[in-house]
Amino acid sequence: MLTTRGTRGLQLLMLLLLLVALLLQGAVTVVGALKAGFYDKTCPGAEAMVQKVVNDAFDKDYTVAPGLLRLFFHDCFVRGCDASVLIDSTAGNHAEKDADHNKALHGFEVVDAAKADIEAACPGVVSCADILAFAARESVALAGNFFYAVPGGRRDGVISREVEVEFNLPASNFNAAQLIERFVAKNLTADDLVTLTGGHSLGVAHCTAITDRLYAYSRTSDTDPTLGPAYAALLRKSCPVNHTTAAVAATNSSAVWLDLLTPEKLDNQFYATVQMGFAVLGSDQALMADPDLKAAVAAYASDAKLWVAKFSRAMVKLGNMVELTEEEGEIRMQCRVVNGGNNRLVASN
Ligand code: HEM
Ligand SMILES: *[C@@H]1O[C@H](CO)[C@@H](O)[C@H](O)[C@H]1NC(C)=O
Ligand SMILES: *[C@@H]1O[C@H](CO)[C@@H](O)[C@H](O)[C@H]1NC(C)=O
Ligand SMILES: *[C@@H]1O[C@H](CO)[C@@H](O)[C@H](O)[C@H]1NC(C)=O
Repeated sequence: MLTTRGTRGLQLLMLLLLLVALLLQGAVTVVGALKAGFYDKTCPGAEAMVQKVVNDAFDKDYTVAPGLLRLFFHDCFVRGCDASVLIDSTAGNHAEKDADHNKALHGFEVVDAAKADIEAACPGVVSCADILAFAARESVALAGNFFYAVPGGRRDGVISREVEVEFNLPASNFNAAQLIERFVAKNLTADDLVTLTGGHSLGVAHCTAITDRLYAYSRTSDTDPTLGPAYAALLRKSCPVNHTTAAVAATNSSAVWLDLLTPEKLDNQFYATVQMGFAVLGSDQALMADPDLKAAVAAYASDAKLWVAKFSRAMVKLGNMVELTEEEGEIRMQCRVVNGGNNRLVASN
């Protein structure tokens, strides 16, 4: 009896060891597996250098925080987090930057500055994709006063195509089902959608993003009825032009806060504005139209700690969306330019 049990125990242990060994081996070759402290040996100062550059830029202009946070989201939703959003267009090749969704992106010069410092210290080692992931984390730390660890090891892509943006990123006129669909397509959940939409606790929307809600909502109503007449009137004061009829270029510089209560602080107050019907973007207000999403909004509105914990985890999950393996991609020398020439692998579009 005892010996049998002992033998079985030993067999079990051996099996377990074998499994662990297999798993460990697997982890090394898993496609795009990221690791915390990825640059500890190869470029130990990398994360601190990003931190310093982002801190300095933020001190001069806090809008780098919303800028970098949004840049990171837009990078990860198109071809995974591969810094494809940073690549400049070249003759005949329209990069992601050219897409309507990306026209208002900013913060590129902060990434460039961090990359320059890092290249000077350890050339050819740290990817632009990782620098952007670290920079987004620093933005969260500065604007939200909380911190999470970001695994590294992302590779930089060599392809950036304008046409791939629109069908990957969600749009501000999406309803709840459409929003969920875009997140699920990225292996993110409906809960991740609500959690990450908290990014709209920071920054602005340009009037062009809400013209439809204010002036051209549907066949039966110029105004989105979920806005309420008083709030719609207030927003129309900030955005007086019906861009669908007027020339956009002259007025598209005006913008409104995404979070009326604490627009410069990354916090759960945003969810309270959504509950009150004061979301600026139609897509943010749409979270209230689905019972599950609405419940998540309520949970985050009432529990700051819960949201901070979930947002930190969701940002890591967002950052884990990598599609390039260790052999694919490259470490870009300059974040705006593919190594050895301009976007040479981009099919023209
Ligand atoms: C859920 C679907 C989402 C939609 C439809 C959406 C759409 C938009 C739109 C239309 C704007 C205004 C851009 C402008 O006019 O300048 C905006 C701004 C912003 N978004 Fe999102 N977004 C979404 C999710 C996210 C996520 C997941 C994050 C990050 C975690 C994020 C971060 C931001 C930030 C920080 C801004 C402000 C940018 C600034 O002030 O420059 N968004 N978003
Ligand atoms: C989502 O997960 C599936 C199954 O693991 C995988 O094949 C697919 O590439 C993932 N998609 C993204 C965008 O990560
Ligand atoms: C705004 O422009 C659109 C497109 O021309 C038009 O259908 C709509 O009625 C206009 N709205 C207002 C309030 O003038
Ligand atoms: C309006 O937007 C266009 C295209 O994004 C841009 O080139 C132009 O500078 C903007 N105009 C103003 C006044 O901001």
